[in-house]
Amino acid sequence: MEENKALAEKLAPLCQDLARQIDALPTATDGPFDLESKTRLSIVKIAQDIINASKPPYSQFSDLYVIHSEITVQKIFLKWDAFDKIPLQGSISFADLAAAVDADVPLTSRLARMLISTGFLAEPERNHVAHTPRSSIFAMDKGFASLMKLNYYDEFVKPVAKPEYFDTYGRKEPVDKAHSPYAFGIGEPGKTIWEIWQSRPGMMATFIQGMRGANVFMNIRGVYDFSWIATEGAKHSPDRVLLIDVGGGSGHTLKYILSTVPGLPKSQCMLQDLPAVADAAEKLKDPEMDGVQFLGMDFHASQPVQGALVYYIQRCLHDYNDAESKKILQHISDVMAPDSKLLIGEMVLTPVSPPFFYGVDLHMMAVSGKERSVEDWEAIVTSVGLRIKKIHFGTSVSVVECVKV
Ligand SMILES: C[S@@+](CC[C@H](N)C(=O)[O-])C[C@H]1O[C@@H](n2cnc3c(N)ncnc32)[C@H](O)[C@@H]1O
Repeated sequence: MEENKALAEKLAPLCQDLARQIDALPTATDGPFDLESKTRLSIVKIAQDIINASKPPYSQFSDLYVIHSEITVQKIFLKWDAFDKIPLQGSISFADLAAAVDADVPLTSRLARMLISTGFLAEPERNHVAHTPRSSIFAMDKGFASLMKLNYYDEFVKPVAKPEYFDTYGRKEPVDKAHSPYAFGIGEPGKTIWEIWQSRPGMMATFIQGMRGANVFMNIRGVYDFSWIATEGAKHSPDRVLLIDVGGGSGHTLKYILSTVPGLPKSQCMLQDLPAVADAAEKLKDPEMDGVQFLGMDFHASQPVQGALVYYIQRCLHDYNDAESKKILQHISDVMAPDSKLLIGEMVLTPVSPPFFYGVDLHMMAVSGKERSVEDWEAIVTSVGLRIKKIHFGTSVSVVECVKV
């Protein structure tokens, strides 16, 4: 009785707060993606606080059974292409789905029911399964499906780090790329993730596609205004490279930047990545990238382009420990002109970052990398002769703007 009274007192202000946020929603100017939407995020946060406060402590552990089981079934269904067999309109019977994925009906029904129970899939009529907006992403967005296969369902499905890893390597932050929790977990210690993936057919292609997928919900849309590059660039020789996306993968970020700065000459923009990746990006022959320079390189060695106006490096440094990250940035700092800028696109952890940020950090720990705090970035950037001018905070990726000291 007393407990319920205390709970009611705790819930009342949360509910008022929730009502206020809901009132603000119709006029919110937030973007369409959940992670970009501050109003939606605060609604989710308050709702989560209400759930946490309302659930008896022991029952919160039952959530773990649900999370593990949901991941397991999603993994199996992705592997069987089961999400592609469910129509985007209407539904399919358990029996027909079982036949389509060559599994028996009792197994298929049990697996499907798990995802129906959490609302991931729907059951519009008895023993029929249909997509929801969430599950249909797996059927419609192959880039995102690849990311999920990569991060959760094919490769990292084992825990981010096994406790046995720390028995073997000591209870220390993993920093050795060849002896990462991931390499240990899949029984290939001594190899980097790139060596492991390059030896597996199709894995690198899944990775590159997955990075495009990650861009859907981890991106710099609206975080940094790149338009000054065109204005400033016009004052310089047309031979000067104005923008380099270092480790730019398939070019999705450079393409986004170009779309936001129409006056930026493509011929003065460059995508750099490992030779095979840069080559594959060029071969995409994307008309929106027509004229862009593509250069195969190794960011662990000297930066091949001197004095570009902007060096942009996004979601690369979180793959590496501090010493390796400093070396990568040192190569860029060494060739920067006095007016060059280094822009680092990465998550920036703060004490109030959402759990997702800390989840991504542990996923990076699996490959001996890490997400970093403001203080971590300051230490790295100053060690290579640069200083942080400003951090442009985003709701997922932020932009750390650095200049020569
Ligand atoms: C995590 S992905 C990030 C890709 C892209 N910047 C993004 O934000 O989606 C890391 C990128 O670094 C590239 N990379 C890895 N090692 C590299 C190296 N030694 N030199 C240049 N690029 C490298 C990978 O091919 C990949 O495209």
